[in-house]
Amino acid sequence: MNHKLELRNVTKTFKTEEGELTALENINLAIKPSEFLCIIGPSGCGKSTLLRLIAGLDDPSSGEILLDGKELRGPSQDRGMVFQEYSLFPWRNVLKNVTFGLEIQGIDKQEQYKIAEEYIELVGLKGFEKRYPYELSGGMKQRVAIARALATEPAILLMDEPFGSVDAQTRNILQEELLEIWKRTKKTILFVTHSVDEAVYLADRVAVVSSRPGCLVKCAKIDIPRPRKRTSVEVNEFRGKLLMWLSLERTKACIQR
Ligand SMILES: Nc1ncnc2c1ncn2[C@@H]1O[C@H](COP(=O)(O)OP(=O)(O)OP(=O)(O)O)[C@@H](O)[C@H]1O
Ligand SMILES: [Mg+2]
Repeated sequence: MNHKLELRNVTKTFKTEEGELTALENINLAIKPSEFLCIIGPSGCGKSTLLRLIAGLDDPSSGEILLDGKELRGPSQDRGMVFQEYSLFPWRNVLKNVTFGLEIQGIDKQEQYKIAEEYIELVGLKGFEKRYPYELSGGMKQRVAIARALATEPAILLMDEPFGSVDAQTRNILQEELLEIWKRTKKTILFVTHSVDEAVYLADRVAVVSSRPGCLVKCAKIDIPRPRKRTSVEVNEFRGKLLMWLSLERTKACIQR
């Protein structure tokens, strides 16, 4: 089986004033091409740390991360990231935010605009190209961040609680839009969330991380056909299981391989 991404015994420790802090412990995880994986766990369990390691923004203390079978080294445009907090450049308008990665790639200006327009349309922001981030709602900002991450055509999209700061209704709409984008682009998506509802609505598979130090307590397939109905019996049943896994004692439950 060819994996798009594989984490083998990944551990991450940080040096702090109080001593060494283990943020992630012995994480083993394999992700298939075009899979939609949600990573869920309590605050501080190491979800952002895990995405940063996969993005290549930081290195594991031990263990390895393989991308298409090769050990991953540093950041690269084959992995696009959407951050937890709004991370647009405030001095750039929507179009210029989206062209950012393309500029770095040295792509011709006309081509940059053409590509950016495509992705701006994909996230439903056609007509807003000249707007600046301060003129946009939270949901619109995250749409721009998604367009910016997609514009360089990464094979993997890493999303760190991208919809955590928007209202419940906008969040539902953004989730539906993301599923559409995923269907059209066939990206491999790793999506971090706190929300049980969000994970059950979106994911092919969900990885449950325990409280600090984060370890994997469960990785389960969500076998519910799409489009999923948020209030269906199957969705509710899975939500119950997920809540149970989240409450498991880490010492007893960690998957050790
Ligand atoms: N650069 C760093 N130096 C020291 N400690 C860090 C660093 N980055 C993260 N940590 C610690 O590692 C742990 C995991 O942090 P992380 O941000 O990954 O959690 P999280 O699961 O994303 O939390 P949240 O859901 O609140 O975003 C925390 O205890 C945090 O304080
Ligand atoms: Mg985080």
